[in-house]
Amino acid sequence: MGKYYHITTYGCQMNVHESEKIAGILSELGYSPCENINDADIAVFNTCCIRENAENHAFGNIGMLKKLKAHKKDMIIAVGGCLTQQIGKADVLHKKFPYVDIIFGTHNLNNLKELVQKKLKSKKAVIEIEDGDGNICEEGKALRTSYPNAWINITYGCDNFCSYCIVPYVRGRERSRRSADVLAEAQSLVCDGYKEITLLGQNVNSYAKGGEDISFPELLRQTAEIAGKFRLRFMTSHPKDFSEELAKVISENPKICNCVHLPVQSGSNAILKAMNRRYTVEDYLKKIEILKKYVPDCAVTTDIIVGFPGETEKDFTDTLELVKKVGFSSAFTFVYSKREGTVAAKMDGQIPEEVSKDRIMRLVELVNSQTREQSAKYVGKTVEILCEDYDKKRNLYLGRDEYGRMAYFKSDLNVIGEFLNIKIDSANGISLFGEVIKG
Ligand code: 5AD
Ligand code: SF4
Repeated sequence: MGKYYHITTYGCQMNVHESEKIAGILSELGYSPCENINDADIAVFNTCCIRENAENHAFGNIGMLKKLKAHKKDMIIAVGGCLTQQIGKADVLHKKFPYVDIIFGTHNLNNLKELVQKKLKSKKAVIEIEDGDGNICEEGKALRTSYPNAWINITYGCDNFCSYCIVPYVRGRERSRRSADVLAEAQSLVCDGYKEITLLGQNVNSYAKGGEDISFPELLRQTAEIAGKFRLRFMTSHPKDFSEELAKVISENPKICNCVHLPVQSGSNAILKAMNRRYTVEDYLKKIEILKKYVPDCAVTTDIIVGFPGETEKDFTDTLELVKKVGFSSAFTFVYSKREGTVAAKMDGQIPEEVSKDRIMRLVELVNSQTREQSAKYVGKTVEILCEDYDKKRNLYLGRDEYGRMAYFKSDLNVIGEFLNIKIDSANGISLFGEVIKG
């Protein structure tokens, strides 16, 4: 009988792609994927600690495996991801969950093969957390699970130290992959039939900022020059580093989607300063103006945090005003989560939970109403979508247009990975519904 692996992923796209790399390593070791964790010979938890709820979620799920492990003694349980990289957390995990076999840091992912082999020979838990800046390993092939979409890391780590954020502490200093490696990976993905490529980094705009390689706009341009029909996206852009040159490159290359994720975090200058974002509301609006000058139809999505220490009602309503002014096509909204070790964790004026809850509800309502308005404008129009999945519950295929808007439709054939024209008949919140236009 074969051996099976199961990976539980928490957090962002970066982690989803990292889980694909973990899957690649486990398949090299002879494991196959299984859907139910109870069937797994190795269960990996790829954790996230960016907000407390992601952390609690992982702790809860690891705790639930105690019973299974008690009667399935040979099962290996491994915990990786940025939770393990926080100072002292590996010890906490080991004490709280002594039945966990492997604990590995974000910088140790590339050694997972050796760690599993070590564990198979030893009764003791294997714990490897490497401090420091982290390196880049070009070996190993990700086992991609999101055809026709593929992600490519271009940078790792972050040097920005936004005052609320744990990422620079757990992911190390920013380092960029060589452009030749990124381009070769993109080329091979296009050859393999992938239709949408997303270049990933905590701050893609500072790619190769030491000047040792080509700039991010140039990397994007060269990636877009790869022959074949595919879409190109990138995330995340820090507004302070978003340049006119980048806007120009987007406008000149039809493969690059007219959709930019530009996290603003707050609409108040006082809060942006306290967040150490290094731009003002006016700077942000200027960047949007430059972007729209070159790409008038560009959709802009964002991240917003409410309840940052010291946020007044006026700071918050300034955020609402900014949301109205920019007309974001969608926004990820978060309640500020205190992360030990960050500068903001020591700030006065932590906001009571009920105030933050009230603010997030008002923000979500505004964002949703704007999204609804934008969706309604799609009705009657025909859009080109890339079909990416089948929704079993709805019995419908689904795909996104270049602006990132999701459309659902019927098809008798499996059309995943195909570009299709869809005539939109109706809209419901963020989702669109329509039919395939032949020809
Ligand atoms: N609390 C709430 N949201 C956070 N983010 C990062 N750190 C925190 C935190 N401590 C959000 C930011 C970032 C996104 C990936 O997560 O909005 O852009
Ligand atoms: Fe965190 Fe700021 Fe870096 Fe983004 S840019 S990962 S929010 S420190």
